[in-house]
Amino acid sequence: MIPCCRPTAFAAQLDVLAAATPAITALIDRHLASCHEWWPGELVDFGDDPQLAALGALRDRARGLPSAVKVSVMLNLLTEEGLPHFHRIIAEHVGSQAIWQRWTRLWTAEEDRHGNVLRDYARDAALYAPAALDRLQFGFLRDGFDPEWAGSPYRLLAYTSLQERATQISHANTARLAAAHEPLLQTVLARLAGDEARHCAFYRDAFALALAADPDAALLELADVAPVLSMPGSTIMGFQMMAEVERQAGVFGPRQYAALVDESLNHWGIASIEPHGGEARRARDRLMALPARLDALAGRLEQRRHLKTYVFDFLRPPLAALA
Ligand SMILES: [Fe+2]
Ligand SMILES: [Fe+2]
Repeated sequence: MIPCCRPTAFAAQLDVLAAATPAITALIDRHLASCHEWWPGELVDFGDDPQLAALGALRDRARGLPSAVKVSVMLNLLTEEGLPHFHRIIAEHVGSQAIWQRWTRLWTAEEDRHGNVLRDYARDAALYAPAALDRLQFGFLRDGFDPEWAGSPYRLLAYTSLQERATQISHANTARLAAAHEPLLQTVLARLAGDEARHCAFYRDAFALALAADPDAALLELADVAPVLSMPGSTIMGFQMMAEVERQAGVFGPRQYAALVDESLNHWGIASIEPHGGEARRARDRLMALPARLDALAGRLEQRRHLKTYVFDFLRPPLAALA
């Protein structure tokens, strides 16, 4: 188990989640009822035509994809392939409970498909210099991801709720930008966005159980994790440049995060929660002010917009120019 700054709180939060086991089971059942089977090998399959005609056509289309799309897909691919980190973090926080072991295995199997299908697509579409992709992925797995917020099961659920929605938005917006150039990439990314939406629904409603049972503690943890969403790929080499490309392309950035936080606070009914303690009341009030603060930040960043050219060695040629 991970070290925790508040061991008593850690145990108390696990007790609350244990008492919610029937409700967590119902959320897993709801998730399973919404699943439909799909496989990377079905989505990305060009048969065994010796002329490789379909593969050639794919590569012709993929060559025309905007650089921002290729960069966004790279960041999302690497993030998805960071799955060992995310599996470990979830297991460390809630893995002592059988119901969460069941969920974590299911979630991991679903997430594993995401990295696989993006990797298959990138290889077949010849999207990147392959050794550059391998080097980045190796470095991300070697360097790890240990978010500062670790140590609280409630914070884990708050984080995963926000993060799954962020990933859904990122995949969906990249799919939208890819659509005019490469319909297969749009299809792949839309499939991933659908999975992320279902993951978000699970984590968001699991966190709602914590809020209902233990509102003061849950509000404090949410207020710790929500202001700055530490993206799961933030230790990837070149992450800041890739994130900047995503922001400028309208894929994901503070503007989208502000809307996401606003939507999540509404979903949880944060405004109408009446905590018992003053600290939790102040946390609620800070949370309610957060979307406006994030919107203001997005506005300041958009005003500073100016032409930049980034060099990414995984692109062919290795440049991404931004307007
Ligand atoms: Fe994913
Ligand atoms: Fe997900």
